Amino acid sequence: MSYTNLTYEIDNRINIISINRPNNLNALNIQTFSELDHAVKSSVANPDVRLIIITGSGDKAFVAGADIKEFVNFSMEEAYELSESGHKILSETIESCPKPIIAAINGYALGGGLEIALACHIRIASENSKMGLPEVSLGVIPGYGGTQRLPQLIGKGRALDMILTGKMIDADDALSFGLINYKTPQDQLMTFAKDLAKKILSNSSNAIKNAIKSVNANFQQDVNGFEVEINEFSKCFETKEFIEGTSAFLNKRKPDFN
Ligand code: COA
Repeated sequence: MSYTNLTYEIDNRINIISINRPNNLNALNIQTFSELDHAVKSSVANPDVRLIIITGSGDKAFVAGADIKEFVNFSMEEAYELSESGHKILSETIESCPKPIIAAINGYALGGGLEIALACHIRIASENSKMGLPEVSLGVIPGYGGTQRLPQLIGKGRALDMILTGKMIDADDALSFGLINYKTPQDQLMTFAKDLAKKILSNSSNAIKNAIKSVNANFQQDVNGFEVEINEFSKCFETKEFIEGTSAFLNKRKPDFN
């Protein structure tokens, strides 16, 4: 499928999805969200892809939020649908993705943009990035999981400070809060992201899938994360990758999981 609002490339088992509406600072309209959903799902189905990087086109924005111009006249019912479908994509397609997803934040990550990044497994931000959930300044609240995932990552006090003030924080504060994992100069962001991706790709993709599922279980209601871990741990045994990883260790060589 060709995308109108995304660019999609596969390079060395890494799929780079770039949200591409630079005239609107990559604001997330419904079509873009649905293309993102489709692009991630097609990468999951593609055996040539083992990791996904989501970024924004241009040098100014990752995603400057949901498209305000699109939702400005929505009714309550339309808003409910918008939020519900966004939640489904972020929870089921991105957060639960069995292949790791890195957010490479290259500028403004606001509102829905930050919420996409929060659903990714790892976040890297360039030094010029600004992150925030400014929805209350528009008379609305975060609607794509921001009120839930931001406190999970940075704690309730800091999350409420960011959500109630609507302020933007810079990459230094985001790093110190644990909102991002790494900060890089802007011109090194994608190189850094690809290097990190290569490090992850040197490990067992089966074990990575089971690890993502187990960590996510900690945040699901009515799911016992410890039990999920026991199951996912035991499922690794007798797999080809477990045999390769353990025999490589015992034979003092590097494992080959390709
Ligand atoms: N939805 C729709 N359009 C958006 C947008 C959004 N979330 N964010 C930016 N844009 C558009 C602007 O309307 C503008 O389009 P125009 O040239 O047709 O007027 C274009 O992107 C450039 O934005 P501009 O505001 O001129 O850039 P700036 O550098 O002066 O400011 C921001 C950058 C990010 C501070 C500012 O655009 C902003 O506050 N955006 C909204 C952020 C937000 O509230 N997000 C949460 C939405 S729920």
